[in-house]
Amino acid sequence: MIEIKKNIYWVGIKDWSLRKFHGHELSTHRGSTYNSYVIKDGKTVLVDLVWNPYKEEFAKILEKEVGLRNIDCIIINHAEPDHGGSLEYIMSMIPDTPIYCTKNGADIIKKHFHKDWNFKIVKTGDTLNIGEYELIFVEMQMLHWPDSMLTYVKGANVAMSNDAFGQHYSAQGFFNDEVDTCELYQEAMKYYANILSPFSPLIKKKIEQIRGLNLPIDMIAPSHGVIWRENPMQIVDKYYEWAQDYNEGNVVIVYDTMYESTRAMAEAIGEGLLKNGIKYKLFNASVTDHSDLITEMFKAKGIIVGSCTVNNNYLRTIGAVLEEIKSHKFKGKVAAAFGSFGWSGEAPKLITQRLQEAGLKVVEEPIQFKYVPTEEELRQCVEFGDRFSKSMQ
Ligand code: FEO
Repeated sequence: MIEIKKNIYWVGIKDWSLRKFHGHELSTHRGSTYNSYVIKDGKTVLVDLVWNPYKEEFAKILEKEVGLRNIDCIIINHAEPDHGGSLEYIMSMIPDTPIYCTKNGADIIKKHFHKDWNFKIVKTGDTLNIGEYELIFVEMQMLHWPDSMLTYVKGANVAMSNDAFGQHYSAQGFFNDEVDTCELYQEAMKYYANILSPFSPLIKKKIEQIRGLNLPIDMIAPSHGVIWRENPMQIVDKYYEWAQDYNEGNVVIVYDTMYESTRAMAEAIGEGLLKNGIKYKLFNASVTDHSDLITEMFKAKGIIVGSCTVNNNYLRTIGAVLEEIKSHKFKGKVAAAFGSFGWSGEAPKLITQRLQEAGLKVVEEPIQFKYVPTEEELRQCVEFGDRFSKSMQ
């Protein structure tokens, strides 16, 4: 156990080798951690647990450091299996222990384990006196599940925020001032872009509500990655910025290609963007990590999507990219489509429709050329990029 504040301990698992999360949906290049916390006060409180594969290791740590039977209550801020998965195993040893969670949390736990444990339902503003400290509960509904909750430890000024402000980042250190800041922010932003960005309007409101509570916050202890100890509000301020149609002014060109014609068009479009000083990043969707690509699109002001036409449609990797753009509900971005074709040439028009359906502002008619683009046609691609960058300004 690591004491993070007086009588408050980290008792989690560092999953150094994890490379995929949410099944195979999300890449985790730097592993992850499942942060559980124990508060040894008048009452001994366990806050959040760990993923099921680590249940035995976790139980051994608890038994050695705390003594399972000394745990007076469990707080479940969020029941998703990476945090609540080991609950059944732990409860099999201490079955009467009260579980504090939201109403949605109790419903979700029952649907996972089909057990009716001793649930204590809490809502925003409810408190629990545990001795020197008092716990204050703040519901965080849909950030990012219906049950999500924050537990504030009054007296220690620690906000246990569960997924919010977390990172899939297993580092040697435990605190933000002990790790590489660049790595930390890469992972924090990737986490936000991939998991939380669809809920940005709710996040903005929730941050305003929490700021309005005027709770002093010395430390933000999420359930993944490192704990924000040095200037903890920096990540709250970042979330507030990221939640408001965030972009860094650049363009992402994402394409897939069969015989490099669409690639040649992509590069020529990039040349046109540079004429007006607009920086761009180029990604072949079929060889790019999709979680990283979502992060890059989240950061971009413009998204230009290209595919050759095959079987009257775009390539399947581009289909996945378009679905991701839609489901992440990106706001305030401009877009356009392009691609080469052989005979029917539907792809750029279909991509344009998908981009519009996703809520992006399409600022150029789709551009397409037959088979291999000529020098003149590539020049037209440069002009396309030039016009696109001007419409961004
Ligand atoms: Fe880290 Fe939503 O679980």
